[in-house]
Amino acid sequence: MALASEHPLSHRILHGLHLLCMIVLSVSGFYIHYPFAPGLMGTMRYLHFVAMYLFVVTLVLRIYLVFVGVNRDLAEWRFGKRDLAGIGQTIRYYLFLEREPAQTGKYNPLQKSTYYFIALLMIFQALTGFSLYWREQPFFAWLLGLVGGLANMRSIHFITMWIFFAIVLGHVYMVFTEAYDRFLLMFFGIERKPAASR
Ligand code: HEM
Repeated sequence: MALASEHPLSHRILHGLHLLCMIVLSVSGFYIHYPFAPGLMGTMRYLHFVAMYLFVVTLVLRIYLVFVGVNRDLAEWRFGKRDLAGIGQTIRYYLFLEREPAQTGKYNPLQKSTYYFIALLMIFQALTGFSLYWREQPFFAWLLGLVGGLANMRSIHFITMWIFFAIVLGHVYMVFTEAYDRFLLMFFGIERKPAASR
């Protein structure tokens, strides 16, 4: 089952834009690290610089929509006692030892934790990226100093890309094995209602 009310259009548009940014940033970033074809560095850097701003905008807007507007979904993101109590059951579920994950609303406790982690990772990647971009600005210069210089920061930014890849792989696997209906809704707006309410 997948209802449009669970994933309103504004959220779906931001999710799509975010995915687009991730693809552009990954391809262009990978090229900046390993220029696998000649003559594209200018274009790839340009694409990276455009997408990095959009990447930040999508994150800020999505966080804004958690708190504001008719579709605000703060309640879905609260991590309470029920979530804590449900972690064990949910881990067992993912290990194929339980029939159902803990029922804690729209997202189960591990989903919530993963999405929090992704948001933190996005902020982290933006900070490492802007340290490469605005390296003379005092705050970012300080961050560069903290990690031992530009070369280290580039490596951290690059390694973080691989952490994103690992998470996205898991995310896509879960979507196709657990929530194919939601994939249709998220990308194509196709709603599937339970048989009784069709
Ligand atoms: C707001 C977010 C981001 C900002 C501000 C940012 C900024 C930058 C900058 C300034 C560079 C150096 C470009 C150059 O030297 O010409 C860079 C390189 C790179 N970026 Fe990003 N980036 C961001 C997000 C991402 C994301 C999400 C990924 C991948 C998932 C990514 C992957 C890379 C890679 C692999 C490189 C090459 C690193 C290297 O030099 O080895 N970036 N980024």
